[in-house]
Amino acid sequence: MRRRPKYSIIKKTKIGRFSRVYDQVNLYGGKIGKNTKIDAFVYVEEGVTIGDNCKIRPFVFIPTGVTIEDDVFIGPSVTFTNDKYPRAHGEWKLLQTRVKKFASIGARSVINPGVTIGENALIGSGSVVTRDIPDNAIAFGNPARVVSATISPRVALARARTTKGSTRP
Ligand SMILES: CC(C)(COP(=O)(O)OP(=O)(O)OC[C@H]1O[C@@H](n2cnc3c(N)ncnc32)[C@H](O)[C@@H]1OP(=O)(O)O)[C@@H](O)C(=O)NCCC(=O)NCCS
Repeated sequence: MRRRPKYSIIKKTKIGRFSRVYDQVNLYGGKIGKNTKIDAFVYVEEGVTIGDNCKIRPFVFIPTGVTIEDDVFIGPSVTFTNDKYPRAHGEWKLLQTRVKKFASIGARSVINPGVTIGENALIGSGSVVTRDIPDNAIAFGNPARVVSATISPRVALARARTTKGSTRP
């Protein structure tokens, strides 16, 4: 890890080289890959795996059962979930959620438990993802619907841009 944040709680977590964890982050019993950025106020529960070269923006919640592969972008205030029928007491069933490599999830989206977001898929801001999203699709809305089965050249170009403004710290 590149810097050790003073006001974060990091326990039993393996963090790869060149990764950065900012302040007010909770990490417990999970694994973070190399060169991944975890911004402030991110809460990650036990056993979560986050891959290499990911960017997790502020105020993200990632509970147990979520796996995030390499090169994934998670926008600010994205909320993952892991229990479809939650209640305060008794047994519950953990559902596994997966975000495949190079996917991006727009700000404030909610990801229902048990879904898979496909490789290189793009989820628009404010979406509620209730079903699997195929590889390379663009989806948005509540519930999120696929609006494009492929990433158009225009969007691909915009995502690939390395000019000022797209290189977030
Ligand atoms: C989904 C997204 C990639 C679509 O971008 P785009 O292909 O350029 O689409 P446009 O902006 O041309 O919008 C096309 C239509 O979809 C609608 N739309 C776009 N994004 C939407 C969203 N997130 N939710 C609902 N509708 C949306 C627009 O209102 C527009 O509708 P209209 O044709 O009726 O006016 C983009 O809007 C988005 O949400 N990006 C994520 C932003 C984000 O969270 N970034 C995090 C970094 S801080």
